[in-house]
Amino acid sequence: MPILVLIFVHDNHNGIHQSTYYRGSLFVTGRSKTIVGGFHFWKEQELTISRNKRQLSFDYNGSKVRGVNLGGWFVLEPWITPSIFSQWANGGGVVDEYTYTQALGPTEAFNRLNQHWATWITQADFQEIASFGLNHVRIPIGYWAVNPQPGDPYVQGQLTYLDQAIGWARSAGLKVMLDLHGAPGSQNGFDNSGRYGSINWQSGDNVAQTVIAIKALSDRYASQTDVVTAIELLNEPANWGNDMSQVKQFYYDGWGNVRTDNAYTAVVIHDAFLDIQSYWNGFMNIASGVNDVILDTHIYQIFSDAEVAMKPCQHVQTACAAGPKVAGTDKWLVVGEWTGAQTDCAKWLNGLGKGARYDGTLAGSTGYYGDCQTKYEGTVDGLLAVDKTNLAYYVEAQLDAYEQHSGWIFWAWKTESAPEWHFQNLTRAGLIPQPLTSRKFAPQCQTSACLIPGN
Ligand SMILES: *[C@@H]1O[C@H](CO)[C@@H](O)[C@H](O)[C@H]1NC(C)=O
Ligand SMILES: *[C@@H]1O[C@H](CO)[C@@H](O)[C@H](O)[C@H]1NC(C)=O
Repeated sequence: MPILVLIFVHDNHNGIHQSTYYRGSLFVTGRSKTIVGGFHFWKEQELTISRNKRQLSFDYNGSKVRGVNLGGWFVLEPWITPSIFSQWANGGGVVDEYTYTQALGPTEAFNRLNQHWATWITQADFQEIASFGLNHVRIPIGYWAVNPQPGDPYVQGQLTYLDQAIGWARSAGLKVMLDLHGAPGSQNGFDNSGRYGSINWQSGDNVAQTVIAIKALSDRYASQTDVVTAIELLNEPANWGNDMSQVKQFYYDGWGNVRTDNAYTAVVIHDAFLDIQSYWNGFMNIASGVNDVILDTHIYQIFSDAEVAMKPCQHVQTACAAGPKVAGTDKWLVVGEWTGAQTDCAKWLNGLGKGARYDGTLAGSTGYYGDCQTKYEGTVDGLLAVDKTNLAYYVEAQLDAYEQHSGWIFWAWKTESAPEWHFQNLTRAGLIPQPLTSRKFAPQCQTSACLIPGN
């Protein structure tokens, strides 16, 4: 039975509230009769989610994220910029941005921080970052920049510089991952959350205020998703001081809020120091109905005695073991923080005035694994030759491992005096490969042999 079907379809798309209009004609010719019909219908979609319905301007599924963290800029960390805290080096109770702004009061705190914001990172940094072949910067920011809470001592003014930074990123061809690094009450009690001490994030309405902070950031940059391709809902929520079911609910709520501004902006969730496969596989993956989620994991091998006790080749082997681990996650995964450091020697890394596990100067640590020497404070050029060699091998192994999924972001672009953490100077000194895909050494993750000379 011969059937002829002709369908003419006209469709119409328009912006915010997407309507698709289909109109057509249908002719069906059979043995005994011809049916001629017309149809038209509207396919209405409640696309409040696509106010800016552009695809992601970075292909997280096909390209590798290669980035640096602009640490110590909008959220102070004493070890990154010890000069800012030098007047309290011997006490006084100032250990983080909260106590810093509290001690100085709003006017003096603003004056000093405004100077810091204007100088710590400049347009020349963005250009050099791009010139090294990097494609992302991750920018930590505290909730207090967008949603300060009653009674907070924090000062504002960061957003002017963040706006400027996004323009610089655009000019340099870089993408920005915005990273909410501090939440009200502190999500981890680390100084880098803004407030050292106890974890009170899930008290009162802190979580709701954090969602409002995310919404504010997302709204602010909704029209700049050509640069702001990813928003991290919260850096390093601790699994030990928080109820994880509330963390997960916050991730859903944060994702939904970013989605009301943009259908595709990547939403980054941190692993809360839980297993990226056994704990996180199955959560917020494509199959569960959410799109464009990146799991962020941070890989440091320095915050326990067992880790600082490791020899250089054990650090390499541990890095290599992370390769299959990151590869086996069921959503995009970025190693959003890692370092060239094999020790916790950098001055104040464990907190203002505190020592290191590596040389046994941290209160409570009992071991001694070596002398911190030039790793405590100094320059990349001033590192011992042996430390430079170990670091260069370690960095290459980590690049090999972390590129087995969506990529990596080094912590940090620069520091005042912590040489092993200074991507800019490490690269200038030839200790991080250029181009980033080149290698000076034989592939270390394809052998169980130790390739580092002298080890
Ligand atoms: C990523 O790419 C792979 C292979 O091309 C594809 O199977 C997968 O569906 C893509 N994932 C996403 C989240 O787009
Ligand atoms: C980085 O390099 C600059 C320029 O040479 C130098 O002034 C600074 O001290 C270096 N810092 C570190 C930690 O290497």
